[in-house]
Amino acid sequence: MNPPLNGRTLDFDRDGNCLAIIDQTLLPNEEKILRLETKEEIFEAIRSLRVRGAPAIGVAAAIGFAVTAGGIKNNDKRAFFNELDSLKEYFAACRPTARNLFWALERMRGAAENNKNAEIEDIKQLLKDEAEKIIIEDIEICRKIGENGAALLNDGDTILTHCNAGRLAAVEYGTALAPVYIAAERGMKIKVYADETRPLLQGARLTAYELCEKGIDTTVICDNMAASLMAKGTINAIFVGADRIAANGDAANKIGTLPLAIAAKYFGVPFYVCAPLSTFDKNCLSGADIIIEERSGDEISTLHYKERKTPENAKYYNPAFDVTPRGLITAIITEDIGFRI
Ligand code: MRU
Repeated sequence: MNPPLNGRTLDFDRDGNCLAIIDQTLLPNEEKILRLETKEEIFEAIRSLRVRGAPAIGVAAAIGFAVTAGGIKNNDKRAFFNELDSLKEYFAACRPTARNLFWALERMRGAAENNKNAEIEDIKQLLKDEAEKIIIEDIEICRKIGENGAALLNDGDTILTHCNAGRLAAVEYGTALAPVYIAAERGMKIKVYADETRPLLQGARLTAYELCEKGIDTTVICDNMAASLMAKGTINAIFVGADRIAANGDAANKIGTLPLAIAAKYFGVPFYVCAPLSTFDKNCLSGADIIIEERSGDEISTLHYKERKTPENAKYYNPAFDVTPRGLITAIITEDIGFRI
């Protein structure tokens, strides 16, 4: 089957007047493209993880900002800029943890500011151009992350990954899976163990889907099986993504990443975090400053939106991310091979 959206996870559509995404809540059983025009539709899609993964959230917000700014009717410059500020604030409330969301919105608002003397219609067009640049840069940056990470792999290696930090979490390639894709392009055979990633099963549903689509040898495991594989010596390296990286290198990623890093340290397995520089937040001095999203207990009580599996009066604690201290990370792989914390 031809991948929808020409292999991209998200893009402009309808002459730049809508954001097109693959609805990731339906994968792997249904490949449905959603075309979103209003700020409410775009907000809901990010909030409910129809589009998710830090880089993809940033790109969705950039396209969403450009699309909805294009629909502003006010011809007064000051009122137009006030509406841009409201849009920025609105989209910034979608999800709190992924730095890329805020990075993209700041860049989009900054692009308008830098051209504040232009006509409103020209500003609307340059916002679309800026979002298009972010899309292209995302593809190039993820490819570079892939090249830098592939240098750490040997033919025949088996890696473990958590959540989905592949092409579905970006425009193409992804971050943690980019090294696998680049290695495969070079004819190397890499095996991947994908943690299922409770509660929303991004590993079982999304990582396994996209790896299998590319013909990569993929094995899905429950989250509680990873340490035993490390103990057996099956895993050569762990590759994960990140939602926000603090100035000291502490990295927030999908809940369940931290126990993997602890086990990896114990068993001497290299633990790599792959992320674009736009995921770094110098305003967070350490991981303690990173805001961790808490989501509904319904995600725990049901197995991926199905019927409840828990007693009616149980309580829930559902943080979407955890923070891995820098000391447990072997290396952070970015697009810049010379980058140092
Ligand atoms: O809640 P999600 O699915 O948006 O969480 C995604 C992750 O934790 C990814 O690992 C992270 O965003 C890196 S994606 C390249």
